[in-house]
Amino acid sequence: MGIRLEESANWCTLYAIYSAAFGQLTEADLVQHMHEDGDLILSVIAYADEPAGHIAYSRLILHETPSIKAAVLAPLAVAPSFQKQGIGAALVQNSLKRLTDKNYDLVLVLGEPHYYGRFGFTPRLADRLKTPYDGPYLQAFALSDKGKGAHGSVSYAQAFVELE
Ligand SMILES: CC(C)(COP(=O)(O)OP(=O)(O)OC[C@H]1O[C@@H](n2cnc3c(N)ncnc32)[C@H](O)[C@@H]1OP(=O)(O)O)[C@@H](O)C(=O)NCCC(=O)NCCS
Repeated sequence: MGIRLEESANWCTLYAIYSAAFGQLTEADLVQHMHEDGDLILSVIAYADEPAGHIAYSRLILHETPSIKAAVLAPLAVAPSFQKQGIGAALVQNSLKRLTDKNYDLVLVLGEPHYYGRFGFTPRLADRLKTPYDGPYLQAFALSDKGKGAHGSVSYAQAFVELE
């Protein structure tokens, strides 16, 4: 299994992964929308014999602490025939390292605490933010000490706003 940056905007590949994982195209459309708006920060794909999984990050603005460089993790999917083999974990860990290398301070995710908790995401840090997704599924992970100081209102990429 290999992990690499998805730079070719190969929508057929991404649509295949997301439709298999979610049974719908909403998440793949979200990635395409973020790409078109210039809001896609990072797009990473996992390959086995064929494309197996994908993870995307978009920009997040922190209004009260604008010097903190923040990103939203969404979406993440592994095609069903490749699930439970550690590919999702490899995608999360590989991409978090890439964000750290790009000097990001904070990542926000809306998802299952049982899944994202294993990587260090916590609702406690997210609790200090004011977002449209506040609640127990909203979790944050600080990539730097600076990221731990995040608080206040945030703005997601427009593609999320148009999902609501
Ligand atoms: C969630 C997903 C990305 C995990 O990918 P994966 O490659 O199967 O994950 P890993 O092999 O790294 O980890 C498997 C673990 O994740 C857990 N897991 C998988 N889906 C989960 C979910 N929705 N909620 C909580 N835990 C989940 C498995 O039970 C397993 O737990 P274990 O390690 O305690 O046995 C994948 O199952 C998927 O694409 N699901 C459908 C789409 C989806 O729900 N995406 C998440 C968006 S927030």
